[in-house]
Amino acid sequence: MTANNGKGPGFELEYGEKLYKNNCVKCHGEQGEGKENKFYPRIQGQHFQYIFRQMLWIQNGKRHNANEKMTKQIHGFRLRELNAVVDYVSRLKPDDDITATPDWKNPDFKKGLINATTVQKELNQN
Ligand code: HEC
Repeated sequence: MTANNGKGPGFELEYGEKLYKNNCVKCHGEQGEGKENKFYPRIQGQHFQYIFRQMLWIQNGKRHNANEKMTKQIHGFRLRELNAVVDYVSRLKPDDDITATPDWKNPDFKKGLINATTVQKELNQN
């Protein structure tokens, strides 16, 4: 995990926080720390773009190991909800002791920030 993970555009953080508390906390925890004993993954400290993509894949069934309850939970989310909640999640901070040095870059991370337009295009293709 990197300290400088990419954040979202930041214009609907209050809405994102509300969505997170109502839909995600019970599994992923207040700070996105997850619940190891239940196999709910840690989602803090990750790139906005990465989380956004996972959320889309979980929502549209492209991610086959997805948790059924979670898929149901986000079933009705439109792009606005996804954007807001993912933006909020991208700002949840892991504890310092599990954070990589600030200059660490995830080699899997592709350039180019995902945004509502690219997401819409992707949705139209499916
Ligand atoms: C019923 C419990 C549950 C709820 C509610 C839930 N999740 Fe999940 N989530 C899971 C489980 C279990 C996984 C791991 C399995 C999988 O890949 O789907 C997961 C996976 C994820 C991942 C992928 C993590 C990774 O490293 O690839 C993200 C991101 C995520 N959840 C975000 C959210 C957000 C945001 C919400 C609220 C809108 C939410 N989840 C609601 C249980 C839940």
